[in-house]
Amino acid sequence: MLTSEQITLVKDSWGKVVPIAGTAAGLFYGKLFEMDPALRPMFTSDMTVQGEKLMRMIGIAVDHLDKLDEIVPAVQELGVKHLDYGVRNSHYDTVGTALLWTLEQGLGEAFTPDVRKAWTEVYTLLASTMKAAATAAA
Ligand code: HEM
Repeated sequence: MLTSEQITLVKDSWGKVVPIAGTAAGLFYGKLFEMDPALRPMFTSDMTVQGEKLMRMIGIAVDHLDKLDEIVPAVQELGVKHLDYGVRNSHYDTVGTALLWTLEQGLGEAFTPDVRKAWTEVYTLLASTMKAAATAAA
């Protein structure tokens, strides 16, 4: 569970990433494919558009941190969709590491240990909801 302090940390830090969302998305995919080049062929669409979709989805989640139940069905659907992309549970750890690394690059000193912990919590919540839905659908 996220505390209200963690929700504030995530919202404030995301506010600093939004103006550099395009750069952040580029950093994220660069890091992801460096960590696991086998993931690259899974992405067949335009990567700029894909980056925008990812940033939009994270933004929606950040906007709903105090009412996550409202987005659970959409997150579950996204998880099932990821099965068709060839995404497996183990890939979520790599994506989580690349995401935290990207936030660290974008936020610099503002990426404090508490901010890292709060983002880890948010990512874990999203990823576990997606994975559970995918496992149930497989
Ligand atoms: C919390 C975790 C994640 C979020 C929020 C997320 C978000 C998204 C979104 C919003 C889309 C676009 C869906 C659409 O077009 O309707 C997408 C597509 C995709 N995601 Fe994720 N994703 C996550 C985890 C992952 C993981 C772990 C992988 C593994 C590599 C992955 C690989 C992909 C691929 C391959 C596509 C399709 C790209 C294409 O159409 O070319 N995602 N993701």
